Amino acid sequence: MTKVTVVGSGKYGSMTALRVAEYDIVDEVVMTDIVEGLPQGLALDMNQSRYVEKFSSKIIGTNVYEDTADSDVVVITAGLPRKPGMSRMDLLEVNANIVTEVTSSIMKYSKNPVIIVVTNPLDQMTTLVSDVSGLPKNRVIGQAGVLDSSRFSYFISEKLNVDMKDVEAWTLGSHGETMVPVPSQCKVNGKPLTELLSYDEIDELVRRTSEGGAEIVALLKTGSAYFAPSSAAATMVKSIISDSNEILPACSWVTGEYDINDVYLGVPTKLGKGGVTEIIELNLNPEELANLKSAAESVKQKVLELNNLKTQ
Ligand code: NAI
Ligand code: 2OP
Repeated sequence: MTKVTVVGSGKYGSMTALRVAEYDIVDEVVMTDIVEGLPQGLALDMNQSRYVEKFSSKIIGTNVYEDTADSDVVVITAGLPRKPGMSRMDLLEVNANIVTEVTSSIMKYSKNPVIIVVTNPLDQMTTLVSDVSGLPKNRVIGQAGVLDSSRFSYFISEKLNVDMKDVEAWTLGSHGETMVPVPSQCKVNGKPLTELLSYDEIDELVRRTSEGGAEIVALLKTGSAYFAPSSAAATMVKSIISDSNEILPACSWVTGEYDINDVYLGVPTKLGKGGVTEIIELNLNPEELANLKSAAESVKQKVLELNNLKTQ
């Protein structure tokens, strides 16, 4: 039996669970949350769409970890969004506590899952799940790059008035300010982006991409984006479950690739049954490579903040 668990049945978690179920590639999708009734109610509603949408994956809503036993893939979305008056460090502390508890509970019932981390702040939470789970590094991955690349390709397609299917866009590094766009590897109908847009125009699209989450938060007023983010996590689940080894930008453990060592960083990653099966080294230009290295340094600094929390 194949089983995917999504922890956290809020906006991101529930939409991811539904997308994975609609792919119809697993027997069960389990959704958990601490709020009683929430995952059960959502699961009931989703299951009642199966007749119309014609998928067989069963969705189970639960508040207990026994139901997550023997999951092949787990997506962790549990956490709080930043609230008014809360500092970045406050958010780090709250979500670190939630993610630690969730990871320990998951590991009690699933021996060798692949875990995809979604909860922000993404790089720190991915590192934390790796440490707490004790899983091999290739089995713990963070989601940011698929979303950022998808946002980037949307802005490129709008600017050039082309179909998104004709755009190939890559963003590496981290999520947010330290996102590293790589225009040298972006193509539209096979043509380099740098031949189609000026540097200033590309910079403007890059700025909008790295601030993409904040732009949506400001419009929604409450909550954050979840349609594109859930597509990103669900496509990673699909590549792992179906062992298709698709190359996706994912927050993966880097050991020597791009001359960078021992850090979770957004890099092109082949995702298959065992999680990360290979990290691909793109032919970056010197500026992009320098930006990637500085993103790696910034993640290392952020991990120190996390370690300081643990020793407090
Ligand atoms: P949400 O507030 O709608 O859902 C979070 C859910 O987590 C809530 O239902 C809450 O009850 C649950 N939860 C809290 N503590 C829990 C625990 N100990 N065990 C199980 N469930 C628990 O938030 P949303 O929109 O679903 O976002 C979830 C996370 O994803 C946030 O941290 C957000 O910042 C992050 N995010 C990350 C993105 C990325 O690209 N990596 C993109 C978008 C959001
Ligand atoms: C996003 O990029 C807030 O990380 C979240 O939409």
